[in-house]
Amino acid sequence: MFLWGTATAAYQIEGAAREDGRGASVWDTFAHEPGRTRNGHTGDVACDHYHRWREDVALMAGLGVNAYRFSISWPRVRPQGAGEVNARGLDFYDRLVDALLAAGIQPVPTLFHWDLPQALEERGGWMDRDICEIFADYAAVVAARLADRVPLWITLNEPFVHMAYGYAMGLHAPGRALMTGALPAAHHQLLAHGRAVQALRAAGARQVALTNNCTPVWPASREEADLRAADAYDVLHNRLFNDPVLLGRYPDLSAYTPALDFVRDGDLDVISAPLDALGVNYYNPTRIAAPAGAGLPFQDAGITGHPTTAFGWPVVPDGLRELLTGLKARYGAALPPILITENGCSQQDVPAADGTVDDAARVDFLDRHIAAMRQAMAEGVDVRGYLVWSLLDNFEWAEGYEQRFGLVHVDFATQRRTPKRSYHWFREFLRAQETGQNTET
Ligand code: FCB
Repeated sequence: MFLWGTATAAYQIEGAAREDGRGASVWDTFAHEPGRTRNGHTGDVACDHYHRWREDVALMAGLGVNAYRFSISWPRVRPQGAGEVNARGLDFYDRLVDALLAAGIQPVPTLFHWDLPQALEERGGWMDRDICEIFADYAAVVAARLADRVPLWITLNEPFVHMAYGYAMGLHAPGRALMTGALPAAHHQLLAHGRAVQALRAAGARQVALTNNCTPVWPASREEADLRAADAYDVLHNRLFNDPVLLGRYPDLSAYTPALDFVRDGDLDVISAPLDALGVNYYNPTRIAAPAGAGLPFQDAGITGHPTTAFGWPVVPDGLRELLTGLKARYGAALPPILITENGCSQQDVPAADGTVDDAARVDFLDRHIAAMRQAMAEGVDVRGYLVWSLLDNFEWAEGYEQRFGLVHVDFATQRRTPKRSYHWFREFLRAQETGQNTET
């Protein structure tokens, strides 16, 4: 069955930040620090999904999706990161999973979508190797409760973005700006992923995947210096997180670090345990030029000549085809089936006087990206699912509530949900799949 669905993440939608025994996460701390997020927005309430989850499951049932990717809040399950298990936290996900199954929707949980328990950050966060065992233990606790009903698990969401924004540049929680000193946070996430794969399988999980944020990298010119810079960026953004998992080795990181002294014997065997799928999040390509001065071996040259989203991200549907066929060309038989675990766009969606939200640009975005995915499939890439980011407008990290990605509009003052035109369009699209009007996937 091809998975058609939507995706969300715990800190972005749940709210109820201090309820039912939930511990603090790095995002609670970060968002409450002055100047860290736009307008000082926090995820304290977000979409209040912790209380309104029944309504949100009903919205998905009405949409007709057969899969839902959500994330499990680690500090809701383990308030201190390790040790005490908060039964009320597990109960929440248990109820959610049952409600999804009752609605014919396959739950696809992600164990870590950036909301590290604050207590673990105080021990060094992802810079501390001990976190790998602690994560595997948390994975085992969650799977012991849910693996009987959850077939497919995702360990981590976008370790690249978490390392780059959270540890290298300080734009996301935990707000550290270590630049290339952040590389151990990459390795420890990958090792934690590998240990979690073992823990999940031991607990009976049938399928396990990792979600990476991938981008096609375009050199700004055919000049040697730009080609070299583009290659260096490709190593950092894509290959650093795909090669160890799929090939069991790191790419050449000498442009970033003299030695991988944080890698120990045996780590890569753990990291490269076979996966049932690779989760791919796609938003846009990246155009890279040679650096202007000292520092990193590349600079972002920006993309012009394409429409942009409200975020300013270029809209390049064919980049998805390029990405998928590129992954197949690079990894060949080592590439497991692919699941598009996120794709979508932010728009300035304002309800009209009659209450409707006409997000025509999002309809066009989704339509064209699905077509690009199908083109890649026609070219031989094994894609098993496509999940729209996102079900609801939500807390978009450092951008607060400014960037709206939902198929469903959320009025954050009243928590009123209004399906946008894209929701109605996607519902009709899914109906057409069922009735065989569109049988390509
Ligand atoms: C991805 C994140 C997701 C969301 C989208 C817009 O990088 O995984 O949580 O913020 O971007």
